[in-house]
Amino acid sequence: MGYRVRFVNPAKNYQMIKDEIDAAYFDVMSHGDLIDRHHLRQFEENLAHFVGTRYAVGLNSGYDALHMSLRAAGIGLGDEVIVPAHTFVATCSAVVNVGATPVLVDVAKDFNIDCDLIEDAISPRTRGIIPVHLSGWMADMPRVMEIARRHNLVVVEDACQSLGSSIGGQGAGSWGLTGCWSFYPFKILGGYGDGGAITTNDPEVAQFARRMRYNGEDRETGEYHGHGFTCLLDNLQAAFLDVKLRHLPAWIVRRKQIAERYRAALGDLTDLLLPHYDQPGFDHVYQNYTVRAKRGNEFSEYLKANGIEVLTQFRKPYYRHEALKLVARGFPETEALSREVCSLPMNVELEDEEIETIIQVVRSFYQQCRS
Ligand SMILES: Cc1ncc(COP(=O)(O)O)c(C=O)c1O
Repeated sequence: MGYRVRFVNPAKNYQMIKDEIDAAYFDVMSHGDLIDRHHLRQFEENLAHFVGTRYAVGLNSGYDALHMSLRAAGIGLGDEVIVPAHTFVATCSAVVNVGATPVLVDVAKDFNIDCDLIEDAISPRTRGIIPVHLSGWMADMPRVMEIARRHNLVVVEDACQSLGSSIGGQGAGSWGLTGCWSFYPFKILGGYGDGGAITTNDPEVAQFARRMRYNGEDRETGEYHGHGFTCLLDNLQAAFLDVKLRHLPAWIVRRKQIAERYRAALGDLTDLLLPHYDQPGFDHVYQNYTVRAKRGNEFSEYLKANGIEVLTQFRKPYYRHEALKLVARGFPETEALSREVCSLPMNVELEDEEIETIIQVVRSFYQQCRS
C-alpha cells in the first residue's frame, strides 16, 4: 500500500546531500578507485576518530564484523559465548559459524542484555560476551566490562545499531576488544548496499581483520597469513559513508528532537511504553524509536491501516525459529516485548507535519479503544 508516512525514505535522504554524494561518485569513478584505495582509508580514519578508537577496519557487513571479531579473539569449537535473547539473528549466527555455542540471556526493560542474569549463564567453557546496543541505546557497559574482567572473558560489542551513542562520554564500540558496525542502508549511518566495520584499540586485531578481509593477504608483501575471506568494504561505498559521517552529528541532534516530540505528545498514554530511560551518563541516539504497546499487533496493524509504515522487529524471537536449533531456556522479558514492539518512523527525512500525523494516528488508536 502507499503509506502517508514511510518508515525510511532513502531517495529523499539522497536529495538532501545529492551534491556531495554525486561529487564523491565522480571522484571515485573518474579515477577508477574501486578496491582498497584512499577513500576507504580516509573513512576508516574518520570512523575511528568518531568512535574514539585507534583503528577502524572496513568490512562487508555487520555480520562480517562480528565473525571477524570472534576469529580475532580465537573463539571457536568448544567455546561458549553469551548473547542476548533479543537481538538481530546475526549476533548469534556469527557465534555458531565460528563453531562456538551461543548461550542466550534475557534482556531488561531497555531491550538490552540483563546484566543481573549474565553470571548465571557463565560456565567453564565461556570465552566471551556480545552485548548488543539496541536501537541507539547502549547496554550497561561498565557492568558488562566488570563481569568480563572478573571471569576473564572477551567482550565484542555489537554496536550495529548505535553509532554515536555513549556512556559517560565514552563511545559505543570503544569498550570491548572490538566494536562491530553495520552500514546497512537503514542504519543511522547507512550506505547504498551492505557495509560494515570493526573499531578496536588493538593493533593485532586490526591487522588480523585487514588481512583476513582480503583472503588472508598482506597487501604490502603479498604473503598469505591464513585462510581468509572476501569481505572488504568497497572503496565507493566508503566514499559515500564518509560524506554521510560528516552529517551524522547534526542528524543525531535531529533524531533526539523527534524523540522528544514523541515523548511530549505520547508520554501520557498509559498503555504505551516509550523508549526513554533514566540512566545518568547514557546517551540515546535513537537509531530506532521502539515503543511497547500492550495490544502490539492491533496497534501496529492500526498504524499501517492508517498510512503509517512501522516495523515490528521481532514478533517471533530468533530462538523460536526451528532451523536454528537453539535452546529456548525461557526468556520472559523477550517473550513479552516480542508481542508488544512497534518501531515508529524515526529518520532525518521526516517532516514536522509527518511527525504530527504519526502522533495523531497513535492517539486516535487509544481514543477509538475508549469509545
Ligand atoms: C544488532 C545487529 N547486529 C548485527 C547486524 C548485522 O549487520 P549486517 O546486516 O550489516 O550484516 C545488524 C543489522 O542488520 C544488527 O541490527
